[in-house]
Amino acid sequence: MNYKIRAELAVFEKMPDQAKISHEELERDGFCQNPFFECLVAEVSDEHRSKDGHTVVGYGLYYYTYSTWKGRSVYLEDLYVMPEFRGNGIGKGLMCKVAKVTAEKQCVRLQLAVLDWNSPARDFYAAKGAQDLTDSEGWHFIRFDGLSLDNLVKDAPKD
Ligand code: ACO
Repeated sequence: MNYKIRAELAVFEKMPDQAKISHEELERDGFCQNPFFECLVAEVSDEHRSKDGHTVVGYGLYYYTYSTWKGRSVYLEDLYVMPEFRGNGIGKGLMCKVAKVTAEKQCVRLQLAVLDWNSPARDFYAAKGAQDLTDSEGWHFIRFDGLSLDNLVKDAPKD
């Protein structure tokens, strides 16, 4: 597996330092008995491999979530195609395959987050009929990690 490819997305998203997870952690979490994520890869034949020799040229990584309003859902964490392979239908193919898994697992929606400046990707999703929930419903994307997460844990009531 070409693990470098998932760090490329962090570079593209102008947050290269945020990709901290090791190959070992990815393997542990994706290939254990109850995996935390699933991943589809786009692979080309050896003769079409990338300039730096990779045959895995794109991927879509997703996992299952749950809506108390709508039920089973899928969250697409990453969708990425190497620059030299873009515009050939690979991204669409990955997106459609993730949608197929979503339907097969009887999930009713497929959600994702995209950075506001990433107009090409926003246009790509919009062209496929996606709704921008920040525009239409005003949702904010909230995260606890590091100290803020530790502080919550410390304050958890004793069982
Ligand atoms: N604007 C409008 N439509 C577009 C755009 C665009 N910028 N890019 C592609 N499309 C259309 C194509 O015209 C094509 O239309 P068609 O189905 O009518 O023929 C369709 O989308 C499919 O295009 P693909 O060639 O499959 O797209 P590609 O392989 O280039 O993959 C992707 C798209 C994944 C966004 C790729 O450009 C990429 O990796 N970009 C950089 C990383 C990125 O932004 N990833 C998404 C971040 S959000 C997240 O990860 C959840």
